[in-house]
Amino acid sequence: MKNLLVTGGCGFIGANFIRYVFEETDFTGRIVNLDKLTYAGNPESLADIQRKFASRYVFCRGDICHRSFVAEVLDTYSIDAIAHFAAESHVDRSIVKPDDFIQTNIIGTYTLLQLAREHMPQITRFHHVSTDEVFGSLGETGFFTETTPYSPNSPYSASKASSDHLVRAYHETYKLPVTMSNCSNNYGPFHFPEKLIPLMILNALEGKPLPVYGDGMNVRDWLYVRDHAVAIWMILNKGVTGETYNVGGRNEMKNLDVVNIVCDLLDEMVGKLPDKESRRELITFVKDRPGHDRRYAIDCSKIERQLGWKPAESFDTGIRKTIRWYLDNKDWIAHVRSGDYLKWIAQHYG
Ligand code: NAD
Ligand code: TYD
Repeated sequence: MKNLLVTGGCGFIGANFIRYVFEETDFTGRIVNLDKLTYAGNPESLADIQRKFASRYVFCRGDICHRSFVAEVLDTYSIDAIAHFAAESHVDRSIVKPDDFIQTNIIGTYTLLQLAREHMPQITRFHHVSTDEVFGSLGETGFFTETTPYSPNSPYSASKASSDHLVRAYHETYKLPVTMSNCSNNYGPFHFPEKLIPLMILNALEGKPLPVYGDGMNVRDWLYVRDHAVAIWMILNKGVTGETYNVGGRNEMKNLDVVNIVCDLLDEMVGKLPDKESRRELITFVKDRPGHDRRYAIDCSKIERQLGWKPAESFDTGIRKTIRWYLDNKDWIAHVRSGDYLKWIAQHYG
């Protein structure tokens, strides 16, 4: 692997992945980051990487649905491997307006697969980054394994399930050398503050209401984003073509417990709000999300057993690092929230 194409590298997980590969692995090749820079893509998350690794990092602004543009990138940079992160990723947005989810997650993935197929044998690996949400919702017990039947409930998870099926089909039909990972909820630095954890950190910091959907008893299995990056890198390098790997943190938590922990840690780390005994008083129960999956939990024994992966962070260590990062990166937060970064993009990328 000499020239790795990363799609969606300016998003939360893609940016953490690129940082990990440059800063912590022995990779000596080039990364080409192809990103459309939607509201969720922020090249500022990689500004220092762009400076430090200028000779081995290329940013191309563009849409994965744009066939001739992607073909040009594959040819110009002699791409031999693809790590496909680009997606519309927020469930609530998919409920309000599914259009972009169908376009990017399904048509975009199809466009990439078809081009990768046309670029065989130059392309030696296509890794598709997916989610555990494709499996639907669990009851009180049990875990998702790699053979759990798909049963997606939101337009987001249905669009990701569709893309997963296409990836599998391109392997079975055309022998495209694919691997796939289905991961649980990530948290950590550079997370856009519309998702539960960064939204709660920032609202709690500022004394704003903390909207908890329904009864707050929905369960998610939280994984620190660097652990996900390590898993993807291991799969790219050691994963078996045609295989899929479940990735999870063995950190099942009820949403309300997550929000309570964020409140308590902020009280401890920055002091209490002047008018409140505890930030927990900010918690506000709001109307439930339609089709809200009750519980996700991942059985990640396959990747542990076969590739030797194991998460380094517990929820306790990961959430402290995450809160510290949000406390220390006020400029990034201000830009992302104000839309200033769109001006920054216009200045830098036209
Ligand atoms: P994100 O929303 O933070 O970032 C998505 C990135 O893709 C952005 O930089 C955006 O600009 C880019 N993008 C969107 N549409 C594009 C298009 N048409 N062409 C090119 N670029 C485009 O998402 P994320 O949380 O980093 O998720 C990355 C991947 O991981 C997604 O495929 C998602 O389904 C999957 N995943 C996410 C989680 C999670 O907890 N966030 C968990 C498991 C799997
Ligand atoms: P989210 O971060 O949107 O991830 P996903 O829906 O992909 O799991 O939400 C995580 C959980 O938190 C989910 O059960 C919905 C819930 N939630 C809230 O209770 N309040 C909020 O403001 C948000 C954004 C999410």
